[in-house]
Amino acid sequence: MNPFKYGCVVDGEFFCPRPELERQLKGFAESGQNVVVQGERRMGKTSLIKHAIGGMRKMQMLYVDLYCIRTLSDFCRRVMNGIAEADENLPFIKKAMAFVHQLRPTLSFDVNTGTPQVSVDTRTANAPDSLGVVMGMIRKLAKDERMCVVFDEFQDILDIERSDAVLAEMRSTIQFQADTSYFFSGSVRNDMMRIFDDSKSPFFKSAVTFTVGPIAPDKFVRFIVDRFQKGDRRVDSDTARKLIEYADSVTGDVQELCEAIWDTTLPGARISVDGIPYALDCIFAREGEAFGETVRQLTPLQMSVLRTFAELDTSRIFSETFMQHVGTASTGALRTAINRLVNKRVIYQFGGRYRFVNPFFKAWLVKKM
Ligand SMILES: Nc1ncnc2c1ncn2[C@@H]1O[C@H](COP(=O)(O)OP(=O)(O)OP(=O)(O)O)[C@@H](O)[C@H]1O
Ligand SMILES: [Mg+2]
Repeated sequence: MNPFKYGCVVDGEFFCPRPELERQLKGFAESGQNVVVQGERRMGKTSLIKHAIGGMRKMQMLYVDLYCIRTLSDFCRRVMNGIAEADENLPFIKKAMAFVHQLRPTLSFDVNTGTPQVSVDTRTANAPDSLGVVMGMIRKLAKDERMCVVFDEFQDILDIERSDAVLAEMRSTIQFQADTSYFFSGSVRNDMMRIFDDSKSPFFKSAVTFTVGPIAPDKFVRFIVDRFQKGDRRVDSDTARKLIEYADSVTGDVQELCEAIWDTTLPGARISVDGIPYALDCIFAREGEAFGETVRQLTPLQMSVLRTFAELDTSRIFSETFMQHVGTASTGALRTAINRLVNKRVIYQFGGRYRFVNPFFKAWLVKKM
């Protein structure tokens, strides 16, 4: 079995321990501190929170994934999903359901896995007062046991209609719950900043900021060496370090690369960087279609900018060489194209340079375009 996993939350042997971050998060939960957990995509925010808080004794984690929610009823449904996942013991779920009886909750069991699921009446849950009902349920549950409520992909709450009012009401119930900590996690940095750093936002300065960056290199190297060994491959520390660098130290991308390297080598093999191109081909075979779709949605100028980003140093984008390579004389047009690429989340700014959100997309462009 492949000793690496990517594209999902990881735990157990697939999780490289991050003791210092885990300790801090647990401390926040214990003291009822509200926290904004931020970091680039695929850095390991969700896995870290679930591992640290989910592993605490005497702390009930309520994990709510707000990815792509659009309506209040989506919000209510996701919270109830979180309830059903939090504790498979039925009395807890039934107690929670009783607190939201106005939303006409119903309990069912997944036909394949047998896990409990709670749904709510969509029309009732779309009414404005449903938010108060759900937040009230959390407050009442937290009276009986210590709770840490995690709102993951929290920035997506901005896509609900009248999100300002929604945020204001949430904030007004959260601020009086001194013993319960709320974690607001998300990777779309600008949107998260709008909620917590804008002086007009109800959540302005209401939580401490906690950043999830790359895993400490030495720890990650040791983890990778061990995992390859578990999977009957050999890798030395130097090579492991190079693999991490190749994937820009982004936790999930490093795992994806290692997963593909394992997949394209034989038992007993000694891993070297010469294996990277084979691993990339394997990644392109899986993701090439999605990469192609991204490219199809770009204008010729955006495409040219992207190709130039893949080939040249991006610290001096208005230099003559750069503009010539792109094939435009207009700095305005170049600026607009770059902004579009940032908005489409193809590239992002990092330390005075532009980087590809997905390093394998960059490699694909260089090879195929
Ligand atoms: N502690 C870890 N040890 C090993 N791999 C990890 C760890 N944390 C994350 N990963 C890798 O990164 C991938 C993404 O992890 P996760 O979903 O937790 O990140 P995220 O920051 O929440 O991502 P997103 O921005 O997509 O929400 C995982 O599938 C796994 O491959
Ligand atoms: Mg996540």
